[in-house]
Amino acid sequence: MSVLHSLGTALVKTLPPEAAHRMALKALSLGLGPKHVCTHASLKTEIAGLTLPNPIGLAAGFDKDAEVPDAMLAAGFGFVECGSVTPLPQDGNPKPRLFRLTEDRAVINRMGFNNKGLDSFAKNLRARQDITEKGNSGIVGANLGANKNAKDRAADYITGLTALWGMADYFTVNVSSPNTPGLRDLQGGDALEDLLGRISEARQNLTGDAPSPPIFLKVAPDLDFAQIERITEQARTYGMSGIIVSNTTIARPDFLKSKHKIETGGLSGAPLMRMSTRILNEFYTASAGKIPLIGVGGIANGVDAYVKIRAGASAVQLYSAMVYAGPSLAAKICDDLAMRLKADGFTHVSEAIGTLTRNTAKTN
Ligand SMILES: Cc1cc2nc3c(=O)[nH]c(=O)nc-3n(C[C@H](O)[C@H](O)[C@H](O)COP(=O)(O)O)c2cc1C
Repeated sequence: MSVLHSLGTALVKTLPPEAAHRMALKALSLGLGPKHVCTHASLKTEIAGLTLPNPIGLAAGFDKDAEVPDAMLAAGFGFVECGSVTPLPQDGNPKPRLFRLTEDRAVINRMGFNNKGLDSFAKNLRARQDITEKGNSGIVGANLGANKNAKDRAADYITGLTALWGMADYFTVNVSSPNTPGLRDLQGGDALEDLLGRISEARQNLTGDAPSPPIFLKVAPDLDFAQIERITEQARTYGMSGIIVSNTTIARPDFLKSKHKIETGGLSGAPLMRMSTRILNEFYTASAGKIPLIGVGGIANGVDAYVKIRAGASAVQLYSAMVYAGPSLAAKICDDLAMRLKADGFTHVSEAIGTLTRNTAKTN
């Protein structure tokens, strides 16, 4: 199985990126993905009322239509975020729109929310609920986006929330993809206030007396501290359950080597690590640790995951590094993280959260 899997991973890397992605999804849906159990007691994580077997999650964008969440959980991820899903199906931008920056261990994408829409997404989550009842459980979130041509973008998030209510373990409001023109404006002042107000109202109506699943806000890394303070304050005011930091960046660091660095779109992978971690840490400072954070951007190994946690993340997610290392990466990161925590004298991952800021890390 592992030889087959290594061959598969090598083959996938020789195909054009989008074809490789489709093939990986197919293989995973056929049950050909890796199987790993990653349940170190020190990594069991509570975040916003969710219990995760480990804090290493799959970031949005890999499984846009919720086709393989259980295969990714079986590969060792502690939680899986599907989407972004928009109310109506849409094709996304013209191809090519996905580029490997191999020398930089990075990816640039300008997919533009290609997805099959809410009906198809809901059908897949519903089918999964049947499996879940048979004991195949795990935390699966729905990342919500807005259609490119929507007149009222905020309304699209409410449509998504309403359509998928009861089917996802958590929701993410993604206002930070750079490939839908104007979407990121929703992160600013009045637009964010309006959006979060409407989400809070919809949540109230949907929840009634029952407990609500967590709703996270996913932000860009291209923000200054004043914007970070404002977003944090508004997220808290409107009862958001946490902030996911971050999406891809529109910046292009000088050190990029690959010829594809000139492509338009969002940059992710190794070159995003430092920048997204700095922003994550600024969110941690701005919120004084009072709103849970999920750290994303450039994680490729246990050290990176550990750094994000110490910068303030309660859990982390990754996507791009998997393009180079395959889905077994989650389990490797888990083992490495558990070892590093132990070596530094932490008995549980929660003790390490934000220790970079407080400067009280028990490092050797
Ligand atoms: C091909 C591709 C598609 C993505 N699509 C989405 C998406 O639909 N919604 C979203 O919130 N983030 C999307 N992302 C961003 C990732 O979820 C993640 O925030 C970002 O890539 C940084 O993490 P990484 O460096 O580990 O990839 C996408 C990323 C890539 C590479």
